[in-house]
Amino acid sequence: METLIIWQEKYSVHVKEIDDQHKKLIDMINELFDAFMRKDQEDAIEKILHDMAAYSVDHFYTEEKYFSQFGYSDSEKHIAEHRKFTLEVEKFHNEYKRNSYMLTSKLMAFLREWLNHHILEVDKKYVDCFTAAGLR
Ligand SMILES: [Fe+2]
Repeated sequence: METLIIWQEKYSVHVKEIDDQHKKLIDMINELFDAFMRKDQEDAIEKILHDMAAYSVDHFYTEEKYFSQFGYSDSEKHIAEHRKFTLEVEKFHNEYKRNSYMLTSKLMAFLREWLNHHILEVDKKYVDCFTAAGLR
């Protein structure tokens, strides 16, 4: 299987539930990448893309639930990034129906960059807040 992103310890936010969700999201992105590299049927790629988008929304909801539960101070900007991601993936999905090949390589680059930036720079900021609240 072709792999786009490998989960590493540096991605850990020290909360098992969220690390597990990030791992699952990375798995789904890799699945998408693999299907793309195998030039899989477009229907298959579209289904994985749809599932990945739906999973990311569930995952964002988990983080945002903790933001309000723990009164996380930086939540506004963070939530804005989540919404932007969802819209961006939706845009890719709509465009995919029109021009699948071109788009998928752009989508892969977007997903890899977004994930690295988001987990390493944005998610990391809530670690102190979440762990101080007792999440592990
Ligand atoms: Fe996040």
